[in-house]
Amino acid sequence: MTNTNKAKMIIDKSFKIAEIDRRIYGSFIEQLGRAVYGGIYEPSHATADEDGFRQDVIELVKELQVPIIRYPGGNMLSAYNWEDGIGPKESRPRRLELAWRSLETNEVGTDEFAAWAKKVNAEVMMAVNLGTRGIDAARNLVEYCNHPGGTYWSDLRKEHGYGDPHGIKVWCLGNEMDGPWQIGMKTAYEYGRLAAETAKAMKLADPSLELVSCGSSGSGMATFPQWEAETLEHTYEYADYISLHQYYGNRDNDTANYLASTLDMDNFIKTVTATCDYMKAKKRSKKTMNLSFDEWNVWFHSNDQDKKVDPWSFAPALLEDIYTFEDALLVGSMLNTLLKHSDRVKMACMAQLVNVIAPIMTETGGGIWKQPIFYPYYYTSVYGRGTALHSIVDSPKYDSKDFTDVPYLDQAVVFNEENEELVIFAVNRHLENQLLTEVDIRSFEDYQLVEHVILENDDLKAQNSINDQKVKPHTRSKSFIENGNLTAVLPKASWNMVRLKKRKES
Ligand code: AHR
Repeated sequence: MTNTNKAKMIIDKSFKIAEIDRRIYGSFIEQLGRAVYGGIYEPSHATADEDGFRQDVIELVKELQVPIIRYPGGNMLSAYNWEDGIGPKESRPRRLELAWRSLETNEVGTDEFAAWAKKVNAEVMMAVNLGTRGIDAARNLVEYCNHPGGTYWSDLRKEHGYGDPHGIKVWCLGNEMDGPWQIGMKTAYEYGRLAAETAKAMKLADPSLELVSCGSSGSGMATFPQWEAETLEHTYEYADYISLHQYYGNRDNDTANYLASTLDMDNFIKTVTATCDYMKAKKRSKKTMNLSFDEWNVWFHSNDQDKKVDPWSFAPALLEDIYTFEDALLVGSMLNTLLKHSDRVKMACMAQLVNVIAPIMTETGGGIWKQPIFYPYYYTSVYGRGTALHSIVDSPKYDSKDFTDVPYLDQAVVFNEENEELVIFAVNRHLENQLLTEVDIRSFEDYQLVEHVILENDDLKAQNSINDQKVKPHTRSKSFIENGNLTAVLPKASWNMVRLKKRKES
């Protein structure tokens, strides 16, 4: 027998949070493991195009409709010389890549990545090294990428075969500079000063840039949120966003507690927002600092295996988490959390995209497959466009090891006015009971149920592989609309997308 819990929601067109910035569905490719070599780039692969990029990967990335992709790191950024990755491939240096202790051949660099991003219809979110380098390297890279021509660096780009500027708008000022693991780690004062001066020079080279100041590497850092307060003291007037990074993992095999992790993510976003607004008040500034959640995902499955990988190998299998069904539930909730904060979170990157903690996996020389986390990412990216709506929710709750008052119903609502579509993304966190959710859709007259996509599995630890898609969505739902209201039946432990559309007048 199926046990049932009940929840209620009220949705109204006028309960607007914000227009969703499409860039919240961004992702990340770091020169790490098999993300680039054997992932997006493999000239000997059967599907490789004339530039050596795997077209099977290009197709899946396009399917996800990823609007922006962060590059080249990540931890590797902090000792990276971008000049190593330009010009004739045969003269590019092979280097010890210190962050992941691998061999970097530099076959792929700035120009190749910008060309690949075009193929997948994405913008590049470029990052500059503020670990071992600084103002000079950063301003030269801006000139190389964005200046039309007639100067040393822009003419060099042209000589390399890239006549048109890459036109990269969004730039990260370093990566996780608060982290002791980071090469060239800095104190908040050291980072704040360097980031501000670097930003100043970069904006002189190209005033249209949008810059991201480094926030904490995670909500668990001892220096959070003092790091934000102290660095913003210097970067507030030069940067446009502050970054947030967060990974979760079910390390204790406590699924109820794990699925509640988004309460921490929610609190993280609120604290960073409050810190930004404090700085705005302190500085009597008219500018509002927005948030770039440019690394988020589940990351823990591969931790032990990675310790056994031999150093200095080329494209080793690193951070190759094989995700489970329950990870997909959490990823769905993380996307909901981003949507519910779309008034301040304007960019976000699922970290990462291919092979490295990724929704897309490839075999070097072989096929391609979708991890369970692919599905909530795909549906939210494709259908979560328009206006995020606040909804009034009445849900039963539970307490877990680290959290209290965790609603079983986790949700986000999007109204796509242009397509006349109302989309509800929901996770039922209850591991045994289905959740019968009565939804009052008062201002959406004549809206009909188009589809209810469900991701469910009796085995929370179910995984996919190249031969077997055990975790994939279906549309066999018991949801219905009656008297203008929706009853959404959310199976136990499930991720759901309920899509409604206005009836066409005949
Ligand atoms: O995405 C994997 C790593 O996580 C990145 O290199 C780093 O920025 C973060 O710690």
